[in-house]
Amino acid sequence: MDKELKQIQDLIIGASIQAQKDRHGAISPAFVGRVDWPAECTVGPGLEGAIACETEIGYVNGTQGALYYRGYRIYDLCAYANYEQVAYLLLKGKLPTPKQLTNFSRKLTENLFMPKVIRSLIGFDVEKMSPMASLNLATTVMKQYFDDSIMDQKKAQKNNSDDFIGTDEDSMGMETLPFGEQKAVYEFDAKKKKRKVDEDKEKETFSACCHLISGLATCAAAISRIRQGLMPLDPDKNLSFAANYLYMMTGKRPTAVEEKIMDVSLILHADHGMNASTFASIVVASTLSDLYASIGAGISALKGPLHGGANEQVLNMLDGIESPEAVAEWYKNATRKKEKIMGFGHRVYKTYDPRAKILGPLAHFMTDYAGPDAKKTLQIAKNLENEVVSTLGKSKGIYPNVDFYSGIVYKALGIPSEMFTPTFAVARCSGWTARVVEYLATNRIFRPRAIYTGDLDREYIPIEERRKQQ
Ligand code: CMC
Repeated sequence: MDKELKQIQDLIIGASIQAQKDRHGAISPAFVGRVDWPAECTVGPGLEGAIACETEIGYVNGTQGALYYRGYRIYDLCAYANYEQVAYLLLKGKLPTPKQLTNFSRKLTENLFMPKVIRSLIGFDVEKMSPMASLNLATTVMKQYFDDSIMDQKKAQKNNSDDFIGTDEDSMGMETLPFGEQKAVYEFDAKKKKRKVDEDKEKETFSACCHLISGLATCAAAISRIRQGLMPLDPDKNLSFAANYLYMMTGKRPTAVEEKIMDVSLILHADHGMNASTFASIVVASTLSDLYASIGAGISALKGPLHGGANEQVLNMLDGIESPEAVAEWYKNATRKKEKIMGFGHRVYKTYDPRAKILGPLAHFMTDYAGPDAKKTLQIAKNLENEVVSTLGKSKGIYPNVDFYSGIVYKALGIPSEMFTPTFAVARCSGWTARVVEYLATNRIFRPRAIYTGDLDREYIPIEERRKQQ
């Protein structure tokens, strides 16, 4: 193995060993294993503590600072697997065999080619929208082309012809024949009980998941380039998912180190319990809307600065601090004004977020290559971390979360800061799709309650008489 790749692996293994030591003696949360419905739990505002469903996909242990995908520790997946394996694991429940991985990787690569979708996006003036709004729009466009391709396929089957998806009259320079799945179903049964397995339908749904996972990567990269006045790039079918993402966005084929770091970052962001965007996706899916609309809802929820939008805000915040020496004063002012420090705190973790434990050392590793500005930013980040952890860490359990170091890593990889949150969305798509599909197997429409605190039985006053009241 390349010396630098081995160093990265050692960093992750080192973080894992440290995490084991740190969690020694921490208690486990109460809910692991099956619950009897209706489940009893204490619910706080923002549905804190509420149980929405059962899942086998991923587990966050907030007191121990541990994260598992399908029972595998996040550290092991980052050290030894790649994003393709992790996406397969999330969707299918087990790690792929070499043959399954080859087929799955090929399917993802084929789905990265989507010239018609990109051409439609160009027509929407995406340079004037926020990148997350454009990415959301992309899911709508993708659905439309999927529906069209299904219709076309049906016609083609009738006419005994298979030449339907690639024929395209107004091709552009970037055009490459698409290899996208020609058949996928992303509508779901309304049954409440676990469905009988319909293998064809499962295959079709799986294809739609792959279409979305790859499609978001291609669209995010294209959106970034369009916003810079550059032409979108076709993927390179010889590159991995992580390498292709960087290549399509930056126009440069990444080094093995850059590819590995992008890959680890994609893995770390792939899934994370019942967070706001996953919940939003599932809520939309529970109405038997479609998978594309559900992922669009996830993108919309992720956009907010309290969720995925924090990664861009963190870098803005760090850039706003003049020097490493100025951190203490800056922090004093921020706490005096009761400002929230971006990239810190978490609803579930009251200790270090394990993803930050990996991304911190990776940021350090990357900035060794990235010049004095990156080193300065990293030093500012480290000083801020020390300030926050030694004060809010002790008093309120506030520590760095995944978003604190991810921006520094992304910047060193050449990703523009406005694309940090879309990059999070690209990675999270495997978790969103896996959880939506899992939820729909036993679907029940979401319908929580709100406590009404308003008046009742108010007297209706005709509009002519209301002016007097003002
Ligand atoms: N800086 C300063 N104080 C904080 C912070 C912070 N980043 N986060 C929480 N607190 C304080 C908060 O003021 C409150 O104090 P008090 O009890 O005295 O009023 C206490 O800690 C509890 O905070 P909360 O906002 O009620 O906690 P929450 O579980 O509702 O919110 C959070 C979790 C992530 C929204 C919040 O910690 C936050 O706003 N962090 C900054 C934004 C951020 O980094 N978001 C990324 C989250 S991780 C990745 C992801 O989900 O996308």
